[in-house]
Amino acid sequence: MTLTITQLHKHFVGEAAGVDLSQPLDAGTIDEINRAMDTYAVLVFRDQPLTQTQQLDLARSFGPLDMGLKKLKKQPDRLEHAELADISNVGDAGGTVARDSKKIVSNIANQLWHSDSSFQQPAARYSMLAAVQVPSSGGDTEFADLRAAYDGLPEEMKTEIEGLEAEHYALHSRFLLGDTDYTEEQKAALPPVWWPLVRTHPGSGRKILFAGIHARSIKGWTVAEGRMLLMDMLEHATQPEYVYAHKWRPNDLVIWDNRATLHRGRRFDLSQPRELRRATTLDVGTNERAAA
Ligand code: OGA
Ligand code: MN
Repeated sequence: MTLTITQLHKHFVGEAAGVDLSQPLDAGTIDEINRAMDTYAVLVFRDQPLTQTQQLDLARSFGPLDMGLKKLKKQPDRLEHAELADISNVGDAGGTVARDSKKIVSNIANQLWHSDSSFQQPAARYSMLAAVQVPSSGGDTEFADLRAAYDGLPEEMKTEIEGLEAEHYALHSRFLLGDTDYTEEQKAALPPVWWPLVRTHPGSGRKILFAGIHARSIKGWTVAEGRMLLMDMLEHATQPEYVYAHKWRPNDLVIWDNRATLHRGRRFDLSQPRELRRATTLDVGTNERAAA
């Protein structure tokens, strides 16, 4: 099979065609997709209706699966497999959930710029998000290229941030949204992890400005100074120059590299169903060691 790719943004994002993702992929195709991911960081596939099982099988061919925040959940959700994340405002009965439900908090937390599961070690490598139903307007997903963002930093800033480490904590974004109702047991299940603020992407060899909303402090700095630097870096990395907005159609599948990009959902009318499903692989094998 031959993958053909059309670049959609000056810095990154390819629209990919020529492969049927519902079928098992041979080693050569997996390799081609991995190489394309190293180049484009985000790949958009149109018209790929996948069953839940096919979506998970696809993800599994790129590595072990990530459960992310699902560790906190005691109840199974409405999807067929626990490894699939229900990125939707749809409830068990099929209609949209109430505005004050926990699920809406998750939807809104996804509207803050982040890299999936950067709050754990190993973090996420690829996220594969499939659209089932989309609202009539709004609800795009935006991506920011952290390689181009690093390249675009002033040289003095590159020097200043080299070697810094940021603390990433799963519930930081939730706390920011006023969602503070977690048990000690839940908090203990998600201890913070440290990542270098500047990382090197193993596939492309490019440097990355690894910012995002899960980051809440800089090692050895005061909380205030660290947070301000993290906010400045996030603002820099998410300037329009580095951002691509994806307008969803049903049966789109978008794969992004969480090591090279940030993403966020955009606002939409919460009374309209927006239903996506995410399978995620763990970034095993190529990590820098998290510092103690
Ligand atoms: C995700 C996510 C954003 C969106 O699935 O990881 O952050 O637009 N989604 O739903
Ligand atoms: Mn996400």
